[in-house]
Amino acid sequence: MTTPTTAIELKPSSHPLSAAERAAILANPGFGRHFTDNMVTIKWTEGRGWHDAQLVPYAPLAIDPANMTLHYAQTIFEGLKAYRQPDGTVATFRPEANAERFQASARRMAMPELPVETFIAACDALVKQDKAWVPSEGEQALYLRPFMFASEVGLGVRPANEYLFMVIASPAGAYFRGGVKPVSVWLSEEYVRACPGGTGAAKTGGNYAASLVAQAQALEHGCDQVVWLDAIERRWIEEMGGMNLYFVYGEEDGKRRIVTPELSGSLLPGITRASLLRIAEDLGYEVSEGRISVDDWREGNAGGSLTEVFACGTAAVITPVGSVKSARADWTVGDGQPGEVTMRLRKALLDIQTGAARDAHGWMHPL
Ligand code: PLP
Ligand code: COI
Repeated sequence: MTTPTTAIELKPSSHPLSAAERAAILANPGFGRHFTDNMVTIKWTEGRGWHDAQLVPYAPLAIDPANMTLHYAQTIFEGLKAYRQPDGTVATFRPEANAERFQASARRMAMPELPVETFIAACDALVKQDKAWVPSEGEQALYLRPFMFASEVGLGVRPANEYLFMVIASPAGAYFRGGVKPVSVWLSEEYVRACPGGTGAAKTGGNYAASLVAQAQALEHGCDQVVWLDAIERRWIEEMGGMNLYFVYGEEDGKRRIVTPELSGSLLPGITRASLLRIAEDLGYEVSEGRISVDDWREGNAGGSLTEVFACGTAAVITPVGSVKSARADWTVGDGQPGEVTMRLRKALLDIQTGAARDAHGWMHPL
């Protein structure tokens, strides 16, 4: 039973951080290091559905050692941003898309589906309450982290009969230190992130846990990020750690061609990825979803037809890929610098999000 519960009881912190303390954090927020004054919690219980929706002061949780999530990882999350608009108001970017993906993740993990309107109401309530935390500098934003985990206590392996949904918020500057600087990537041939029939398309904690050893391997090879290949042939490009990928080709019949790996079932269907499919078309590029192999990448790069590659995601927006390393070959992507198409798409997306450009697709959700 899933009773929609959109009425959120407001019991905010009576001791929020002072304006001076908040300003000191907003001057250099980093990513995911600081959290706002409040959080939202909603419970789900078998037979009762969603209940007890509250906005309460941000605080640690007391977890029973036999909490099922600690053992069997029934947990999912989302990431979306609230942006300060030119008139001082605040708007979130495509929250219903995150709400729908959250439902898809819940289905895959045998968890209850939170109604879309409840997900949005929870995000709205927190952003409204902690509005002073939404930065107004450049690309900064308030990163919202909705998540849900099994809150039942017990060691039986089965879907839990109690869950806790929460939203916390964290002011976010650049995800990668150093701003828009091309990243170097390691092609992971030893480890895979996800396989057909697995959980790769769900935003669940285990996917990230499983990625860490390959990310460490990337760092050992002097690279910033890992790029995942398909699990079967270890040949087709899937995505990067925490971001989807786009490949930009030179001009053909007067149009530049842009391709992003198709949704294979084992990569995350990114909302930035989906938005860029539309924006690229609006800007007159020929854009498609398809399969790109490691050989296509290396040969296209060497032959000059493939000129730019970039990664995209909520946390990191758009980040150029500057160089590639694998066990077999290394190469520089294009001239190793942020490409013209990459930077044009980046600006077009950020302009919509920050209210500098018209929101032709109705993606912004004003509060
Ligand atoms: N791929 C993975 C594995 C991610 O964690 C993310 C981040 O959410 C993305 C891609 C990009 O998705 P989105 O654009 O919705 O943030
Ligand atoms: C996001 O872009 O929202 C992500 O979730 C990426 C990473 C922080 C896990």
